[in-house]
Amino acid sequence: MTRSTTACAHPNIALIKYWGKSNSDLNLPSTPSLSITLSKLTTRTTISTSEIDVLYINGQSVQDEKISQFLNSLRQTHSVKNIRIETENNFPTSAGLASSAAGFAALTMALNTHFSLGFSKRKISSIARTGSASAARSIHGGFVGLQGPDWEAEPIVKPDYWPLRIVIATVNIEKKKTGSSKGMEITRFTSPFYQSWVNEAQKDFDEALTAIKNRDFDKLADLSEKNCLKMIATMISSDPPLIYWAPATLACIQLIRELRNSGQAVFFTTDAGPQVKAICLPESEAKVIEALASVVGSKNITSCEIGDEAEIIQN
Ligand code: DP6
Repeated sequence: MTRSTTACAHPNIALIKYWGKSNSDLNLPSTPSLSITLSKLTTRTTISTSEIDVLYINGQSVQDEKISQFLNSLRQTHSVKNIRIETENNFPTSAGLASSAAGFAALTMALNTHFSLGFSKRKISSIARTGSASAARSIHGGFVGLQGPDWEAEPIVKPDYWPLRIVIATVNIEKKKTGSSKGMEITRFTSPFYQSWVNEAQKDFDEALTAIKNRDFDKLADLSEKNCLKMIATMISSDPPLIYWAPATLACIQLIRELRNSGQAVFFTTDAGPQVKAICLPESEAKVIEALASVVGSKNITSCEIGDEAEIIQN
């Protein structure tokens, strides 16, 4: 029987965002980012050696340029044979729910074990980053930071340090027209606001780090919402404009703002897609779910806790 290795990883949601690259060949971000890893949403990736590289996502054969490039570049320095990759996601692929983050994290974990590469967790994170920079963060659980100069993600605090809830309103699951990598390059070269966005990123990151260490919800809420809106402003001011939101995205955001104004501990964030992620304290979770369900329907709501690091589940 062919030997196989299975790794499991979870998507993550950035509270302080990565949007823009300083070097697209090495996939080096131009902004530090800070995320929480999600429980419940899971990517399971099984690899085994094969005649040629093949990829199956949820049972469907897929050609993926990013994965081919990732494997080719890893093979320049490490002994990695051709592989069959079988990935199962229990959430929508490429719809702003960080499927590439969990995907590259699980794949890099599996490669490390299957081919006995002997990488440390930090090294695994930096290899995963070359596939997708947000994947560097999904190697770890809890609150995670990714910053230069080495761009290896580091765990900040464990999931139980501050047991926040993440309520995701899935507005639609169409595959986005402009992927993150391309969108970032468009923004970098055309948005008049791009340089200000990059200039303020380290300060946002440092202040969010302090807010997390102090468990200061209001401070983290302010910083995260503003950081998200600054990223969105660079996207929509790009040429061509990158408009990832849908009308229901804004409807959800308005409700979250109303809840917050009425004293609930909740804030919003969005990424390169229409989905809305509401971060809240456990005591506000029921009200947040009710409000967001009134826009997208309760079957399109997923509520998660903060999740654990990526791991090998079979070898
Ligand atoms: C908006 O990590 O998908 O979700 O490195 O080009 O693969 P590449 O980009 P990716 O971008 C994520 C962008 C974001 C913000 C974030 O997760 O920090």
